[in-house]
Amino acid sequence: MLGSCGGQLLAIEAEEAKGGQAARAEQEANATNARQTATPVTAPVALEAAAHSPVSLSSQEAEKGEMSKPQSSQGKSSPGGSNGGQRGRSSGRQQQSSSRPRKLGQLKLEDAKIGIIGAGKIADALVQGFINYGKIQANRIHVAAPSSKNLENFKNYGCHVTKRNIDIFGRYDCDIIFVCVHGAVVRKCFKTGGLRPAALCTNYVPYMRHPLYVVSLVSGTTVDQLKQTLINPDHPDKYVIEQHRVMVNTAAMYGLGLCAIDCEPDSKKLSPVLRQLLSSVGKLEYVPESQMDAACAIGGSGLAFSYFFISALSDGAFKMGLSRQMALRFAAKTLQCAAQTQLESGKHPGELKDDVCAPSGAAVYGVHVLNKADVASGIAAAIEAAHKRASELAEPGHS
Ligand SMILES: NC(=O)c1ccc[n+]([C@@H]2O[C@H](COP(=O)([O-])OP(=O)(O)OC[C@H]3O[C@@H](n4cnc5c(N)ncnc54)[C@H](OP(=O)(O)O)[C@@H]3O)[C@@H](O)[C@H]2O)c1
Repeated sequence: MLGSCGGQLLAIEAEEAKGGQAARAEQEANATNARQTATPVTAPVALEAAAHSPVSLSSQEAEKGEMSKPQSSQGKSSPGGSNGGQRGRSSGRQQQSSSRPRKLGQLKLEDAKIGIIGAGKIADALVQGFINYGKIQANRIHVAAPSSKNLENFKNYGCHVTKRNIDIFGRYDCDIIFVCVHGAVVRKCFKTGGLRPAALCTNYVPYMRHPLYVVSLVSGTTVDQLKQTLINPDHPDKYVIEQHRVMVNTAAMYGLGLCAIDCEPDSKKLSPVLRQLLSSVGKLEYVPESQMDAACAIGGSGLAFSYFFISALSDGAFKMGLSRQMALRFAAKTLQCAAQTQLESGKHPGELKDDVCAPSGAAVYGVHVLNKADVASGIAAAIEAAHKRASELAEPGHS
C-alpha cells in the first residue's frame, strides 16, 4: 500500500504481521544480496558501473567492493568489526532483522546504522555533525562514493567506506540513508534507463524486513524521482520506507545547521528517530518540497555569502585600525546581533536598520555607500545565481 504525506511512505502492512511472509521477504533479500556481492555489475545499470572504474583498492578489498574496515570500534554496535564484512551479507542480516523494529517510527537512534551516498562537502558536514553532536559512533556511519578521493577523509573519521552504493543497503544494511549527490546523478538514471529509470545502485534496493528511512539532500530532484531509482517497480509493496527531502547547510558540522524538511517536524509525518538525528545538527523548519531548491539557495549557498559579508566587514574594520583577530570577532558578533534581534523582534530588517541610523549620523552615511554600490541587488542576484546553478547541476552531464 502506498501512502504519502510530506515524506513519502511506502508500507506493507500484512507482511509485517506474518512470519511466513516475512521469512520469504528475508530470503529474497538475502538472495538479492548474495547476487549483488557475487556478481560485480550487471548490464542495464550504468551508474554503479562508473563507480567501479578508478580502483585503488587492494585486490582483496576490491573483491569485497570495500575500501576499508573501520580503524577503531568506538561504539557498542560494531557494523564492520571483526566479522563485519560477513555479517552484513547473510547471517548478520538474519540476526539483525530479528532484533530490529519492523514498523516505521520504532527505530531507536542508538540502534540505527547510517548510510551516506555521496562523499562531498555536505556529506562531510553531516558526518562530522552526527559524530560530534549526534553522538553517533563513527563506525555506525557508512559512506559510498565512486572514487576514493573523498572517501579517505571518512575512513580517517573511522567510518566504513565503499565504492558501491548498493553496499549501503545490502552489505551494510543501513537503516537511515542520506543521499548527498548532485541532481545530475539521479537524473542520469532517467536518461539511461529506457522505459524505467535505471537504479541508482547496482540494482534496486533489496527488499527489507525492517523499515528504511531515506533522506534526500539532492537539489533539483524530487523525492518521487529519487524513489523511482531505488525501489524495484515490480515490487513496490514489499518495501517499508519513509522518504523525505531536506536541505541542511554545512553549519551542521558544528551542530548549528539550518535544516529545512518537507513536513512539519513536530508531526507524525516525521519519525522520531529522524527528528532526533536531524535536530542534533540543526534547527528543523518546514518547507514544502516545491520550495526546497529556493531554501537550498538561501540556507545552503547563503551561508557562504554570509561568511563573505563577515569577511568584508572585518576587512573594513582592519583598515580602520582594529587587529585582524578583533575585527573578525566583531564582524561575526555584529552579524549575530543583527540575526538574533531580527528573529526575536520579528521586525522587518529595514525598520531595524532605521532604528540604528540617526539623522545625518555615521550609520546612514555607510548605508548610503552600500546603496550606491548596489549591494542589495548584488546579494539578491547571488541567491538567484546559486538557485540557477543548482538546476544546471541537476541536468544529466553534470555530476
Ligand atoms: N554543499 C552544501 O552546502 C549543500 C547544502 C545543501 C544541499 N546540498 C546538495 O547536496 C548535494 C551534494 O552537494 P555537495 O556540495 O556535497 O557536492 P560535492 O562536494 O560535489 O560532492 C558530490 C559527491 O557525490 C559523489 N558522487 C558522484 N556520483 C555519484 C554516484 N553515482 N553515486 C554516489 N556518489 C556519487 C561524488 O563522488 P567523488 O567523491 O568520487 O567525486 C562526491 O563525493 C547536491 O545536490 C547539493 O545541491 C549541498
